[in-house]
Amino acid sequence: MVKLSVVIPTYMEAENIGLLLVRLRDTLESIDHEVIVVDDDSPDGTADIAEEYGRWYRNVRVIRRTGVRGLASAIIEGISKAYGSYIVVMDADMQHPPELIPTMLAKAEDGYDVVVASRYVRGGGVSRWSIGRRIVSRLATLIARIAIPRVRVLRDPLSGFFLFRKGILEGVSIDPESCKILVEIVAKARDVRIYELPYRFQPRYRGRSKLGLMEWIRYVKHILRLSEYRILKFAIIGVTGIIVNLSILALLINYLPVWISGLIAIETSILSNFIANDLWTFSSRRSKHSMARRMIEYHGAVAIGAVINYSVLVGLTYLGINPIIANMVGILLGFIANYVLSEIVVWG
Ligand code: GDD
Ligand code: MN
Repeated sequence: MVKLSVVIPTYMEAENIGLLLVRLRDTLESIDHEVIVVDDDSPDGTADIAEEYGRWYRNVRVIRRTGVRGLASAIIEGISKAYGSYIVVMDADMQHPPELIPTMLAKAEDGYDVVVASRYVRGGGVSRWSIGRRIVSRLATLIARIAIPRVRVLRDPLSGFFLFRKGILEGVSIDPESCKILVEIVAKARDVRIYELPYRFQPRYRGRSKLGLMEWIRYVKHILRLSEYRILKFAIIGVTGIIVNLSILALLINYLPVWISGLIAIETSILSNFIANDLWTFSSRRSKHSMARRMIEYHGAVAIGAVINYSVLVGLTYLGINPIIANMVGILLGFIANYVLSEIVVWG
């Protein structure tokens, strides 16, 4: 049993892997460790170069995969072949400074199960990122933290640089279709102590990022799966609520004045949505506080959603946008507010 396994997925990193291995060797000299490079048959010869360095740096093992490609599956394979009590996952392109590893390991030995090198805690950051990239990264991070309760303790759940005690994976089945392995681990492992260590995400040393649109699609699917598709259930119930509202109104309008039938229709649809979400969407999260409190808070969430819907409708229409389009945007933003408040407040 070695103390630490360093898992490095690689695809087309021939210009980077050598320098990384040199830096790792210098940094980890006094630590009992192994390095596992998982290469997906890179045409630029990354695996050959890693093997060559391995003749001098004996701790290196190279796993060559053929006929498959994928960052997450390469990491999973590396983890499954690791002998270390602790495992650290990192990129091959020097964006994750290996000099941080001893500090991460020390934190783990202090009793933390997962130590995340974090861009989004005080002292951390990113180097040379455009404003667009910063926003996309923050948004993606926010989505994970809203949709998956266990991930909320993490400021940087999408970090690709993290260390964990291998033992926490016992009894945990890592979905081979995962995208973000850290999110997968934190969402599934029980009672883990997590520490976030600030660091600055470095510019890539050589070459280009391999993660494109497909990776984003995988990401969305992964988050949906881990959140048990709650946002979709919530949306389906939202639509049934409209049907309830319209049917009640159509029925009552024959007997009662519109201002009463309208109120009853709205309140009935809010209540039916609440009950459906309580029994279905959030069925596993009913114990946090009392039903009465959830119901009151749900009314608050609906009210805030309605105010947002209305303000967007009026605001965008004043800006010259077609009111129907403005209202569609308003409905969407109101829906998002309603869902987010339901996740983090009502059933939070
Ligand atoms: N084996 C294998 N197969 N490795 C891959 C593949 C693949 O299909 N695709 C990418 N890699 C390797 C790269 O060679 C690199 O070592 C590492 O995975 C990360 O890939 P990059 O292409 O450098 O990704 P990035 O810099 O855009 O994204 C990184 O930072 C993000 C944080 O902003 C990754 O670490 C992400 O996981 C992380 O979220
Ligand atoms: Mn990278």
